[in-house]
Amino acid sequence: MIVISEDVWSDDFAELAKNFPILHESDLWNRRDDLEIALKDAQALVVRNRTQVTRELMEAAPKLKIIARAGVGLDNIDISAADDQKIVISAALGINAVAVGELTLSLALALSRNITELDASTRKGQWNRKPGNEISGKNWGLLGFGATARATAELLHGFKVKILAYDPFAQPSSNYLTSINATMEPLEEVLQRSDYLSIHLPANEQTFEIINSLSLAKMKKSAIIINVGRGEVINEADLVSALKAGALAGAGLDVRVSEPAQDQMFTDIPNVILTPHVAGITYESQSAINKVLVSEIKRALTGLPQEYAVGKVKEVKR
Ligand code: 3PG
Repeated sequence: MIVISEDVWSDDFAELAKNFPILHESDLWNRRDDLEIALKDAQALVVRNRTQVTRELMEAAPKLKIIARAGVGLDNIDISAADDQKIVISAALGINAVAVGELTLSLALALSRNITELDASTRKGQWNRKPGNEISGKNWGLLGFGATARATAELLHGFKVKILAYDPFAQPSSNYLTSINATMEPLEEVLQRSDYLSIHLPANEQTFEIINSLSLAKMKKSAIIINVGRGEVINEADLVSALKAGALAGAGLDVRVSEPAQDQMFTDIPNVILTPHVAGITYESQSAINKVLVSEIKRALTGLPQEYAVGKVKEVKR
């Protein structure tokens, strides 16, 4: 049995249904008892970022061989518990990177050219020819230099920006950095010099509230922040204060500390664009992610090594 506990496109998994029964309920992540019951017989579990895949949940799933993550972020999965229980975790690493890069640019361009404001005023019959700013020729900072940051940098190539990347764990080749006009820099440098700062970091102890009142104070007043990583990287109250004080020119937030965001913290700040965690979601990326997961599940259930394993377990021992 394959259990899908969140909103993915079922049709893409139809091929698996020929050989394995599939239980797909998009709200199962929110019905813990039902999820545990469903997992008693499950060999595969497909999740996005809402199902909390804890040690207890895995213990309730004695036949589970693979957790297939329809995306990249792993903050909802206890990786060491999966390792302990010899469960493979496959994540579609890199597959939604271009989608994330394109939304990052969309937010930056929309903020730079006041698009939401001008759209609203033009619809009202006004003709407000307010000037914007160009991205071209500016400094673009990247916090995190994984797949989504690199895709962003590659898309930015035509804008002829200078890329300043901060990532203590990345070791890109100098040839690659030269090809995208990038240098790796300490965090301080990136904060101080960036005209645009896009955040591509996961949520963990090292990244928690890296953007706070102290780091915001180091940034240019004309800078724009785009967060397509995880909400927890930003202290949201500090960001609100900086925006309201004019200490920052704008923010594009695709991710929030609490999702779905219920608060009104940013709603009356005009130079902010909010999107509901859709950076990685395009027709193209979802279909490509599901293809990878179908292949990974097939491999796990037929004893072949995984190609997208992220934990220590790279192959299901039958
Ligand atoms: C990811 O981690 O891949 C993105 O944040 C999207 O995750 P989701 O589509 O599962 O919410």
